[in-house]
Amino acid sequence: MSSLNGDVSQNGNTRNMDSLFTVAEIEEIDFSKLLDRPKPLNMERQRSFDERSLSELSVGLSPRHSARHPESFFRSNDPPEYLFSPCSRRSVISCTPRSQAGFEPHPMVAEAWENLRRSLVFFRGEPVGTIAATDTSEEKLNYDQVFVRDFVPSALAFLMNGEPEIVKNFILKTLRLQSWEKKIDRFQLGEGVMPASFKVLHDPVRNTETLMADFGESAIGRVAPVDSGFWWIILLRAYTKSTGDSSLAERPECQKGMRLILSLCLSEGFDTFPTLLCADGCCMIDRRMGVYGYPIEIQALFFMALRCALLLLKQDDEGKEFVERIVKRLHALSYHMRSYFWLDFKQLNDIYRYKTEEYSHTAVNKFNVIPDSLPDWVFDFMPTHGGYFIGNVSPARMDFRWFCLGNCIAILSSLATPEQSMAIMDLIESRWEELAGEMPLKVCYPAIESHEWRIETGSDPKNTRWSYHNGGSWPVLLWLLTAACIKTGRPQIARRAIELAESRLPKDNWPEYYDGKCGRYVGKQARKFQTWSIAGYLVAKMMLEDPSHLGMIALEEDKQMKPAMRRSNSWTC
Ligand code: GLC
Repeated sequence: MSSLNGDVSQNGNTRNMDSLFTVAEIEEIDFSKLLDRPKPLNMERQRSFDERSLSELSVGLSPRHSARHPESFFRSNDPPEYLFSPCSRRSVISCTPRSQAGFEPHPMVAEAWENLRRSLVFFRGEPVGTIAATDTSEEKLNYDQVFVRDFVPSALAFLMNGEPEIVKNFILKTLRLQSWEKKIDRFQLGEGVMPASFKVLHDPVRNTETLMADFGESAIGRVAPVDSGFWWIILLRAYTKSTGDSSLAERPECQKGMRLILSLCLSEGFDTFPTLLCADGCCMIDRRMGVYGYPIEIQALFFMALRCALLLLKQDDEGKEFVERIVKRLHALSYHMRSYFWLDFKQLNDIYRYKTEEYSHTAVNKFNVIPDSLPDWVFDFMPTHGGYFIGNVSPARMDFRWFCLGNCIAILSSLATPEQSMAIMDLIESRWEELAGEMPLKVCYPAIESHEWRIETGSDPKNTRWSYHNGGSWPVLLWLLTAACIKTGRPQIARRAIELAESRLPKDNWPEYYDGKCGRYVGKQARKFQTWSIAGYLVAKMMLEDPSHLGMIALEEDKQMKPAMRRSNSWTC
């Protein structure tokens, strides 16, 4: 590791030690006392299940390993009692939020739950998801659909509130959609593609309901959502972890669904990198924004989904082959990301001094990045202590922009080493004005403008500078920040962000995004009552109130996954 090790420990003293929680510590704390619930007897065993290292799972498993397989694990251990709440037996519509351990809920919380429940979508009498926005004042476009990525914070909120049924229904319904034949014009998409969104169609004459899904064939730009499949796997693991019910993941159809998603992203081709090559607009930023190539959001989700799949896949004949491929890919992917996507002060200085036109294995500047292509802003933006995973790395191209979602997922999945995770939090703290401003959080930083905006966005009027995907502020990102804060032991940062959000969100009717350099203005075309803004807030609040919730969405570092090697000359971390 380069400067990171020293920097982070020195910087550690700036943190509020009172509120320091690491995941390891969280596991030690007796939350049953705190929450006045029965003691989680098998917490220790649950942790060892999650901590199965990649090398343990590699080729040639010993009997000891198969005994720790999720299937046998869950069969031989009852799910932790504390994970269940009486609420799960109540109706998804009427269930009121629980307040744990005598915490007085913020008045906004009840309002948020009401709005979240209003967004529920039913199919043949069962709740199957939440619509993107309940705003009736704007043109609907596709905001009346259930988006897979948008449903994730809703799902987490329901899981945290002890209402897993809707999540199970969603997982099974989207799985059915995956098996549809998907075509754009005359071209057939991969079998494993999950929809970006779906909708329930009511036929009042025949009194029937049918589902309609969009795999990219209706989406603006016609891009398939690469993130949907990853979120689906991540959600399946969250459901399994939170309920202790492994029977859903073990169903043959769920195992098959996972394998189909994995087939898409583990297939062999012409790639020279372990990262996943994508078209622009295939994730949360679903319009052209110069995020084609190897965007951090997809790489971090890819990494997390692979790790979740490793925990969920059965080691039968079909599953075993995937496990082996996943293990190999994770090793290569973490090395690549930690080495080439990581940027801190030292790394930046090294790139600034790069030589170009190097050939052969001894090249330091492997991708031939021309130092002149370094944007001016990055020199000011980079704090002395801190760092982040940059937006994209491909031949002669490094996108230095900061992307919030990818960096938070890197922390949660432990794609970032513990030192890198701390450095990301240090950067967020030092660049608070830029990244949180008046409304957390910037989807990316900085905005692109003028000539660059014309070239990268194709002159997109929706993505003008400091608006929407181009440096806009998205309240949904609160839950990701909060989870990352708890994992790194910095909950005070999350509290600060939540306070900012609380001062505006209900007054402004829960907008989708805010515009402006400081995120001060309700977004130009922002929908109101945007479900993931509401759910994101609730998840953030619930996690702060009960940090043990973090377990369903975070993975411990795999001790066997070595950080990138130290080399004398840059490109290392
Ligand atoms: C916008 C967002 C996308 C989201 C959708 C529905 O298109 O960019 O990420 O899924 O709205 O809210």
